Amino acid sequence: MARLARKICAITGAASGIGRAAAVLFAKERARVIAVDVDAAGLESLDAEGGEIATRRLDVLDRDAVQAFAQQNGPVDVLFNCAGKVSTGSVLDCSLDDWRSSLDLNVTAIFYLTQALVPGMVAKGGGSIVNMASVISSLGAAPDRFAYGATKAAVIGMTKSVARDFAGEGIRCNAICPSAVDTPSMRARIDVMEDPEAAYELFSKRQPVGRMARPEEIAEMALYLASDASAFVTGSAMVIDGGTWA
Ligand SMILES: NC(=O)c1ccc[n+]([C@@H]2O[C@H](COP(=O)([O-])OP(=O)(O)OC[C@H]3O[C@@H](n4cnc5c(N)ncnc54)[C@H](O)[C@@H]3O)[C@@H](O)[C@H]2O)c1
Repeated sequence: MARLARKICAITGAASGIGRAAAVLFAKERARVIAVDVDAAGLESLDAEGGEIATRRLDVLDRDAVQAFAQQNGPVDVLFNCAGKVSTGSVLDCSLDDWRSSLDLNVTAIFYLTQALVPGMVAKGGGSIVNMASVISSLGAAPDRFAYGATKAAVIGMTKSVARDFAGEGIRCNAICPSAVDTPSMRARIDVMEDPEAAYELFSKRQPVGRMARPEEIAEMALYLASDASAFVTGSAMVIDGGTWA
């Protein structure tokens, strides 16, 4: 039995990593996926993945474009806000550009998408919003993740607020809080380190299970939260961390 049959699912950051794994998995579960990203080539390569995936080049930082996207596509059943970025460094290293760009992509873009798409969900009688947070957030800290942790804490705050305000309208809102996930952007961060092999080992061993998560494993949690299987789950920050926070 397909777990997302006939559901229209918008996924941001869908060209790469976790968002891409979610687009592929949701399509396998018979969703009608709208895969959103700024990376046109990455989106194009999704065509080969099969299933019903429509791709839209959209910069989620552009509020007018997000509003136009909501009007053009009509109501969705699921919004997975997955696009995000990692800035490194402590508070002393954090430039104003790092701070603002982290807030813009990790927080303000979720505000734009949620504000644009919730009215359609209300009109439809419900929906599920899944926001990408992190264990580095209000849950805990990691070295040199000042702006990142602050913005992911805000994601959990937004998630709980939306869950509280729209539970009566049938709209659920939950956050996913992974530890390290082996995605292209994670590899890119590791590759520029002094000793990439040692860094890969370190990132892997931070999880008591001894490895990073695979994007497909995070996509499974997104699928659960998107589907009706999680009908009683809202306002939750779901940790998926290989025992890191145990
Ligand atoms: N990889 C990890 O270890 C990890 C851990 C915890 C949380 N996360 C979170 O998961 C999410 C996905 O991470 P990932 O590692 O898969 O990243 P990724 O870099 O592989 O994918 C992010 C995607 O977002 C897209 N994007 C960036 N700016 C955009 C914009 N303005 N408009 C539309 N799309 C845009 C990129 O083009 C890219 O395709 C992020 O929010 C990240 O913070 C990742």
